[in-house]
Amino acid sequence: MDKIVIQGGRRLRGSVPVSGAKNAALPLLFATLLGSGVSRLQNVPELRDIRTVAKLLQIFGAEVRCDDGSMEVDTRSVLSVEAPYELVKTMRASVLSLGPLLARFGHARVSLPGGCAIGARPINLHLKGLEAMGAEIELDHGYVEARAARLKGARIYLDLPTVTGTENLMMAATLARGETVLENAACEPEIVDLAEALIKMGATIEGAGTDTIRIQGADDLVPYEHKTMPDRIEAGTFLVAGAITGGDLTVTGARERHLEALIAKLREAGAAVTETGSGLHVSAPERLSAVDIKTSYHPGFPTDMQAQFMALMCLAEGTSLIRENVFENRFMHVCELQRMGADITIDGHTAKIKGVESLCGAPVMATDLRASASLVLAGLAAENTTEVARIYHLDRGYEKIERKLVAVGASIERVAAD
Ligand code: EPU
Repeated sequence: MDKIVIQGGRRLRGSVPVSGAKNAALPLLFATLLGSGVSRLQNVPELRDIRTVAKLLQIFGAEVRCDDGSMEVDTRSVLSVEAPYELVKTMRASVLSLGPLLARFGHARVSLPGGCAIGARPINLHLKGLEAMGAEIELDHGYVEARAARLKGARIYLDLPTVTGTENLMMAATLARGETVLENAACEPEIVDLAEALIKMGATIEGAGTDTIRIQGADDLVPYEHKTMPDRIEAGTFLVAGAITGGDLTVTGARERHLEALIAKLREAGAAVTETGSGLHVSAPERLSAVDIKTSYHPGFPTDMQAQFMALMCLAEGTSLIRENVFENRFMHVCELQRMGADITIDGHTAKIKGVESLCGAPVMATDLRASASLVLAGLAAENTTEVARIYHLDRGYEKIERKLVAVGASIERVAAD
């Protein structure tokens, strides 16, 4: 299996571009199932999870063409409504096929995603919402079997502002009879991007980006042409890369309004982050100050940036407390950071990080995407060589990460393992 080898200690300088957002492109690709015809999505990142959606869409019977960052999905020949375990187990977001398939074809059979490295991650709120819209749902041999001749609009209060749950229900509601109101909905920018595409398909949606979303169901929808928003988590990861190396980096395509909580914390720690015409610029002194963070739903500090920010705090001056409030088990990177010399103790959902003056490169590996990114960041700042194994996690969410980082001065390469 390939690994990433990093010689640490180089300051990053120059411009690094942000790709299209994985977590926006995934629901956008499933949304194509809501209409019959050819939808075109631009700015699609070249990632393993995107290839998985393409395979799933093909299993449903769609024709999918990919060409240099754009994807065309022709849904005219969709026949199957079954998302098999073999694919769902490799990507939990496959559950986003449930709402569109059920709404358009009246039936969906989607494997239940299993456990996950960062916590239990149930989908009970997706199912409860669909039931409120009149779906009959059964669990059968590890599959969710959902049926409804036509969904009907409903008032749905989400106990937690689940991101993919909000997306699934918003997509389902576009073809339901009457009005659906989603209360305590997720407010993430990816929800807004999806709503914009659904509106292009003919849907009537108000309030996306707030905690109350109103959707008027339509009889049918048409295909869309849309450009995926930039990846705010990739952008945030590069901002931290600039900060952790004491660098001087412009992250082109990054949007301040997507990253306000992270930027506030970077500034509090002593980094300078400014908006430029093309994106965001970060520069940082050799050592930052420790700051505390608590992860939360948008617009709070994103859980998807927690591991990367922890790598930064490992080298800051002072003691920082990081509390993970969204997922139950998202500290898998801690043991590996400790192997590089970090001083971290865990107490339940809180990590206490005493900043050290230097980290020392080591062979490390991680069990999830953002944890892997945090190890790459630590490696960029560490002395000597860091080898990050199991990089298929990284390839799920970061497009050409080593090429992008080399171009701004990092010494990092992908090495094919023996
Ligand atoms: N939850 C429930 N029941 C549900 C749904 C969620 O209890 O029916 C709980 C989860 O267990 C979790 C919390 O609600 O504790 C929030 O989970 P959410 O459903 O919002 O997460 P998700 O939709 O499965 C998306 C992203 C994740 C990101 C989270 C939180 C996609 C494809 N995935 O997951 O991205 O961490 O929102 O922002 O959009 C990543 O990119 O690395 C990643 C994990």
